[in-house]
Amino acid sequence: MLAPLADVQARPLRDLRISVIDRCNFRCSYCMPKNATHRNGNFLSRGSLLSNREIERLASAFVGLGVSKIRLTGGEPLLRPGLTHLIERLASVSGVQDLALITNGILLPQMAQDLANAGLGRITLSLDSLDEKVFAAITGYRGTVARVLEGIEAAKQAGFRQLKINTVVQKGVNDHTVLDMVRYFRGSGHTLRLIEFMDVGNSNQWSFDHVVPGSKWLQRIHTRWPLRPLASQYPGETARRYAFVDGAGEIGLINSITEPFCGQCSRARVTAEGKYYTCLFSDQGVDLRPLLASEHDRSALQERIRSCWSRRADSYSLDRDSSGHTTPKVEMYRLGG
Ligand code: GTP
Ligand code: 5AD
Ligand code: SF4
Ligand code: SF4
Repeated sequence: MLAPLADVQARPLRDLRISVIDRCNFRCSYCMPKNATHRNGNFLSRGSLLSNREIERLASAFVGLGVSKIRLTGGEPLLRPGLTHLIERLASVSGVQDLALITNGILLPQMAQDLANAGLGRITLSLDSLDEKVFAAITGYRGTVARVLEGIEAAKQAGFRQLKINTVVQKGVNDHTVLDMVRYFRGSGHTLRLIEFMDVGNSNQWSFDHVVPGSKWLQRIHTRWPLRPLASQYPGETARRYAFVDGAGEIGLINSITEPFCGQCSRARVTAEGKYYTCLFSDQGVDLRPLLASEHDRSALQERIRSCWSRRADSYSLDRDSSGHTTPKVEMYRLGG
């Protein structure tokens, strides 16, 4: 193993988020809004996705540099052909302590058991409202709440415990349905996390006026169901955690706009075609694909990863002003959040 890797602010590299496909069966307004470039068919072709073998090599190189946590993202990762084989390979990479996946849940009823059998450790679901009309308007009229709830049930039956449910809150869009979600998931054994709407990508029309600060939710929820703060589970955790005083589980607030967590950010991201980014708001990725071929030894790949991370100075969320980041950025459905 090489020496521990840290960036210019002494932030270690601990997590790797791998996007396994950029396509999605939803069209969320904050990620793939109508009229955006994806409508012109610029998704990656199947042949340009990294192969399972290349992703395994990539993961193993990052693990050798200190990564212990891997999250598979998309687009919608469950759309990737051969996903369960990929999970089997990643689960057997020595040093991977946490293997997680984020999904919109629609395909979980038929896939949850296979994911569990393949060795996936954790599942996070995105669900922005329990109101079918609100949900449909956000997701571009794809899927239904009922189907996502079936997906949650299927994951539970397959043995996944304490799922995280991510809700992106947009003022005037779904904020009036948030307390219903809190009520629904309290005591369910799952953890609801409210995420401040972010200015990711180039086309979601973000404005600070559409953000409901997490502190407001803390106040509102605490008034209805008293909360007490919990310690974070790991350095750089995105969510501030709170327990319901009555024992009905916990809730998380991801205040990425009003309380940025760049100071402890330890996440690297790689797109489905092998571009490596050190921040969600970057526009330039470093192409790792040429170094993933079997004729290369892994030290060249690790050296590329290392040199990039050690020069990293990203603090985009700390630097944001009220108009957001107006420079071009990679799209969220390519980078996986
Ligand atoms: P756990 O390992 O389960 O704690 O997951 P996580 O919170 O690290 O990841 P998840 O994919 O559930 O992310 C939750 C939300 O936080 C999503 O909206 C992400 O886009 C956002 N998020 C995750 N990592 C970062 C980050 O490094 N920067 C910013 N600004 N947002 C992030
Ligand atoms: N702001 C905040 N969160 C977002 N996500 C996608 N787009 C945004 C955005 N603009 C979330 C998804 C998913 C996670 C990977 O990122 O809902 O939960
Ligand atoms: Fe798909 Fe997730 Fe983007 Fe929605 S946020 S369009 S579910 S990738
Ligand atoms: Fe990390 Fe960039 Fe997010 Fe800050 S904005 S926490 S540097 S990914």
